[in-house]
Amino acid sequence: MKPSVRIVEVGPRDGLQNEKAMIATADKIALIDRLSATGLRSIEATSFVSPKWVPQLADASEVYTGIHKQPGVRYPVLVPNEQGYERARAVGVEEIAVFTAASEAFNRRNINAGIDESLQRFAPVMERARADGVAVRGYVSTVLGCPYQGEVPLADVVRVARALHEMGCYEVSLGDTIGVGTPGKARAMLLAVSGQVPITALAVHFHDTYGQALANVLACLEEGVAVVDASVSGTGGCPYAKGASGNVATEDVVYMLQGLGIETGIDLAKLADTGRWLASLLGHETGSKVGKALAAG
Ligand code: HMG
Ligand code: MG
Repeated sequence: MKPSVRIVEVGPRDGLQNEKAMIATADKIALIDRLSATGLRSIEATSFVSPKWVPQLADASEVYTGIHKQPGVRYPVLVPNEQGYERARAVGVEEIAVFTAASEAFNRRNINAGIDESLQRFAPVMERARADGVAVRGYVSTVLGCPYQGEVPLADVVRVARALHEMGCYEVSLGDTIGVGTPGKARAMLLAVSGQVPITALAVHFHDTYGQALANVLACLEEGVAVVDASVSGTGGCPYAKGASGNVATEDVVYMLQGLGIETGIDLAKLADTGRWLASLLGHETGSKVGKALAAG
């Protein structure tokens, strides 16, 4: 395992996009500012997708403008097309994430485009990002199963991950969107992708629907991955993925990494406080076991 791991906190984006009740812009800003004070180095702040598709994140520009950006912290945002890129750049975004899937059926529901069509849509975004010095991360969804197609062939995951990397994504995050994976499958998937994309350019992104996310993270750490996406309080889910639930909780990942002697630079107590604050704001229990345990202790 690598001696240090970077966590990409996706709570403000993945965590909030699936919440039904509208959350105040000021609360989203407060969440990101609190996360910025925990030692996290990457915080996915919001998403410049169509507000018709994800009304919860329609205030992306206001959120991005309102946060108190800390030196050394990156604040990537999701961008699905050139229109999203323009909106993001208008408020000074310096890092974006493009997203597609290994499953044709999911992609059509999520971004109204097939896989190849989505990659073509990203080409002008990548070109502009390169010219503007904007870093680009890439996501591949449904890497361990699709709610509409079922099994997803590994070859499709490898092909899409490789295409994103070749297009210029500095990092490709492999997403188990509906949380159906188990550690053996997660490991095999990572090994297959890392045959084509350097492992130093890979991240893992597990949803916890079947309670396997932390075990899947560990399996991938053992294969040498050093970037893990997680969501404070275990919030999350994709509105266009039937059955998707929250991401692995950041608090739980940090606790496990500390136990393994792996450096994250994150203050777990502050993070757990933020997770409980978020859970009370959203009106549900924290999805983090560590968050609960620390509150009780
Ligand atoms: P479309 O309807 O095919 O797009 O949607 P369109 O180009 O035909 O435009 C339709 C309307 O949307 C137009 O407005 C556009 O102006 C507007 P109208 O003329 O009707 O008034 N529009 C936009 N407005 C603002 N910003 C934009 C934008 N683009 C178009 N960027 C589109 C295609 C991609 C836009 C849509 O399908 C979409 O926004 N999808 C996003 C869905 C989404 O956010 N899903 C969740 C994120 S992915 C995820 O959670 C998985 C991940 O966590 C990893 C994992 O877990 O696997 C990353
Ligand atoms: Mg996700």
